[in-house]
Amino acid sequence: MCATQAARGNSVGAGQDAVIEDSGIQIGNRTMPSRYFLAPLAGYTHLAFRQVVRELGGLGLATTDLVLANQLKHKSRKSMELIKTNDVDRPLSVQIYGGVISELVRAAKWLEDHGYEGIDLNMGCPMAKITGNGGGARLMCDVDNACKTVESVLAAVKVPVTVKMRLGWDREHITAPALARAFEELGVAAITIHGRTRQQGFHGNVHLDRIRDTAEAVQRVPVVGNGDVRTVDDAINMRRVTGCDAVAIGRGALMDPWIFARIRRVGTGDSRAWEPSAESQIRFLTRHFLLMLDQHGEHMSCLMFRKFAAWYGARLGIPEDLEDCLRRFESVQEFEAIVVQLRERHGTRRNPRPTAEVKVPNGPVERW
Ligand SMILES: Cc1cc2nc3c(=O)[nH]c(=O)nc-3n(C[C@H](O)[C@H](O)[C@H](O)COP(=O)(O)O)c2cc1C
Repeated sequence: MCATQAARGNSVGAGQDAVIEDSGIQIGNRTMPSRYFLAPLAGYTHLAFRQVVRELGGLGLATTDLVLANQLKHKSRKSMELIKTNDVDRPLSVQIYGGVISELVRAAKWLEDHGYEGIDLNMGCPMAKITGNGGGARLMCDVDNACKTVESVLAAVKVPVTVKMRLGWDREHITAPALARAFEELGVAAITIHGRTRQQGFHGNVHLDRIRDTAEAVQRVPVVGNGDVRTVDDAINMRRVTGCDAVAIGRGALMDPWIFARIRRVGTGDSRAWEPSAESQIRFLTRHFLLMLDQHGEHMSCLMFRKFAAWYGARLGIPEDLEDCLRRFESVQEFEAIVVQLRERHGTRRNPRPTAEVKVPNGPVERW
């Protein structure tokens, strides 16, 4: 039995301490300081958010929002924005997508030539505009083509290449275990599995047993479990039930940016209940906005930050009326006025629940 399999066997059914331990993990030639990763959430997980969450501690690898491979060639403004990074935004992988192998290869080379240290191939996006061009989850429908894609990108670059995928197209076509096995043979550095099919979109339960099937299908390559991890217990459960080597957290990090820091505390044996102080929460809010300002200027930052208001509201103890102001503010001056009020009234919120979930597409998945 290889080392990874042995570790998987030990972690399944073991006590909490064994499962949450966070010794870091090797992904190709890169050492991640933690096994708890930030999953990409297009529109949210850009540089400012990655940086401010890293500053709270406990985060391993982060990945950019998905970038259309062909847009990198044209250095479009949008793609340059998406791959923006800095010295403290490490370790980072850039996620690329597309249905044309030569474009993915060119994008991967370009990224390597420009100093990026990891490339993630998107094989999970369910949106029709992406799957319609043969990219995203569509790649999971044709094992040969998916393998050719991975093989070509691997041959083009030396940096570690990872794949993020779903369980399969629908429940009749669960291709993740077969693909994972094939990708391992080809030499990918890690495989992330979101435990839903493309058909499920973001609805229904994450199938931990299916993630486990995928983890068991491979020998050496690290498998990263993903889907609906919102708390430290969820993270423990993901590792215990699936035997995965690492966990990627998306919406859970938006709802609780301290989730990685909490996991780290538990991993070091400190399982006492813990909440950041009011001052830390306000500092987090302002720091996130200031980093955005640095990167996007006043107008864009106000627009972008408003999207965070609904779920920062409850977590950061923001009273409902101030949360409403955060959803509408138009200038730095207005933001500062909100923070002044927040300092006086922090924690006086009546409703402890977030007022909105992170938006996901709705309706039949065929029409997304
Ligand atoms: C708003 C939104 C944007 C997303 N963007 C991406 C993306 O750019 N690339 C990707 O691989 N997955 C993307 N995902 C999927 C997430 O990375 C993740 O697989 C999924 O949300 C399940 O994990 P979670 O419950 O921890 O969020 C996105 C999901 C949401 C809700």
